[in-house]
Amino acid sequence: MSTTNSVLSQDALKTLVGLAALKYVVPGEIVGVGTGSTVNKFIDALATMKDQIKGAVSSSEASTERLKALGIPVFDAGEVAELSVYIDGADEIDSHGFMVKGGGAALTREKIVAAQSRRFVCIADASKLVQTLGKFPLPVEVIPMATTRVIRQFAAMGGTAQVRMKNGAPLVTDNGQHIVDVTGLSIVDPLAFESEVNQWPGVVTVGVFAHQKANVCLLGTDEGVKTLTF
Ligand code: 5RP
Repeated sequence: MSTTNSVLSQDALKTLVGLAALKYVVPGEIVGVGTGSTVNKFIDALATMKDQIKGAVSSSEASTERLKALGIPVFDAGEVAELSVYIDGADEIDSHGFMVKGGGAALTREKIVAAQSRRFVCIADASKLVQTLGKFPLPVEVIPMATTRVIRQFAAMGGTAQVRMKNGAPLVTDNGQHIVDVTGLSIVDPLAFESEVNQWPGVVTVGVFAHQKANVCLLGTDEGVKTLTF
């Protein structure tokens, strides 16, 4: 898929930012690694400096598999007290560094690893930069028993929530739960929205990353990688 009005393909922009993220990796340390097609580019780039790092804490089974296949040791989040940096993609990012994430269904582990990291470096192509979060269907990880209730709560907010399906059945996350994707929302106060939805019974994680926002965004554009700091 190519980015609208972009000379470089979306894939090429993802490669650019994946490479650019290497300079945020601290030699001798363990790096936090997110999930998704942009992060896959980062993981491939990280393999070129694998002898300079101790390893990674991963946010998904998919990233763990890719890291291990490239010979990068993977540590459990619980084995490591604090990470200097977490590198991950986003489905949307705004001018404050607030994000929507979870397009790859890994939002819960992503938020956990982000929370144990001092710095969140978001890598994204320019199509992900938005004024207001909410155009991308908002992923929410939900305990299956609560799905119907959560869908009704989003409807009361003006949103339309649907269970994410895979091969004709509800997708099951790495944590054994389901995802609902919510359209029709305009998230004007991401901090308040995240706090509210996180309190709903049965919600495991809402895909708004405002309390765990990005500190830096490496944005892939036709003019090169732009560094946004928040
Ligand atoms: C996975 C995520 C990803 O970071 C997000 O979906 C962006 O993915 P991609 O880099 O493939 O566009 O949150 O849960």
